[in-house]
Amino acid sequence: MPPLLVAVADSVFPTLDPARGVLSGIGAELQLAAEPTLEAILRVAADADALLVTYAKITAEMIQGLTRCRIISRFGIGVDNVDLAAATSAGIVVTRVPDYCIDEVSDHALALLLAVARKIPFANAQVQAGRWEMAAVVPIHRLRGSVLGLAGFGRIPQLVAPKAKSFGLRVVAHDPYVPTEIFTRAGVESVEFPQLLKMSDYVSVHTPLLPETRGLFGADAFRQMKPTAYLINTARGPIVDEAALARALDAGHLAGAALDVMTQEPPVSSPLVGRDNVILTPHTSFYSEESLVDLQVKAAEEVVCVLTGRAPRNPVNPEVLQQRTA
Ligand SMILES: NC(=O)c1ccc[n+]([C@@H]2O[C@H](COP(=O)([O-])OP(=O)(O)OC[C@H]3O[C@@H](n4cnc5c(N)ncnc54)[C@H](O)[C@@H]3O)[C@@H](O)[C@H]2O)c1
Repeated sequence: MPPLLVAVADSVFPTLDPARGVLSGIGAELQLAAEPTLEAILRVAADADALLVTYAKITAEMIQGLTRCRIISRFGIGVDNVDLAAATSAGIVVTRVPDYCIDEVSDHALALLLAVARKIPFANAQVQAGRWEMAAVVPIHRLRGSVLGLAGFGRIPQLVAPKAKSFGLRVVAHDPYVPTEIFTRAGVESVEFPQLLKMSDYVSVHTPLLPETRGLFGADAFRQMKPTAYLINTARGPIVDEAALARALDAGHLAGAALDVMTQEPPVSSPLVGRDNVILTPHTSFYSEESLVDLQVKAAEEVVCVLTGRAPRNPVNPEVLQQRTA
């Protein structure tokens, strides 16, 4: 029998050794496409047993050209670059890795909270410019007893909550789809969205980007927040209406913001750039050396599962697996 072949459509990693290591366990060979185009990907993927992909578009046309592929495994959380309907009708299971960076993103959200609360970037800029004085950073409020409101209570904010609590913050969250037991177990109060806006000293955004959450943080939301409150977004840029945020900051509806994600990345002529009370990081929440290894290992493990006849951990179209066993 020829060795199993796993094609890689595109890669952003310095090395594919972590994935290669996992796949060598089933004697599978890894072949990376020369470039992320239809022709170049099909050159390595047409006869491959599995396809790993990062950002390359896996179109219906490409899927039609896959003769043996049983799994398309994404190095990442979302699968919007894969034509899911085409994969499903071709009987190919599509998988994702939803949990490779939850430690990193929850740390980053808390790092942003601490940075805005203690005004670290601003204070640093003052000292670097020769001002060594407390007056420049007044006022700073005590964290203990302050309220952190989490918009969404999925995997990441469930890790933010205990970290924030260790600083003495009271944590509330709004997530209409999470059962009460999860809130109770976490010691987090479940609140309605308007209540969260009204009572929070820090609001941290953790919902997915959906039609219902696009622009969720807009002029109306900002008007309901405390004028001393800070907004933190490590989720997806378009959940926050950035023009409305700039106007709300100018109007004093909230005190500041810290964003790891923006609607346009990198930002071009954003009204949020250049403000003392806004911290921006370049969509790096997910990143650590360890999280990237984890991502490769977990995506490759999905391939191993499917090629050895076991169910993958995170299929996006599990109906394909049911059809196979039926
Ligand atoms: N900045 C980064 O590098 C980075 C990395 C990973 C994830 N993310 C983003 O972080 C966010 C959270 O990720 P996660 O792993 O916790 O997601 P998750 O899938 O575990 O949870 C999402 C939660 O949002 C809830 N939700 C859906 N619609 C809602 C609404 N209208 N109001 C309130 N809650 C709602 C769902 O019920 C679910 O509990 C996502 O937007 C994800 O894309 C960012």
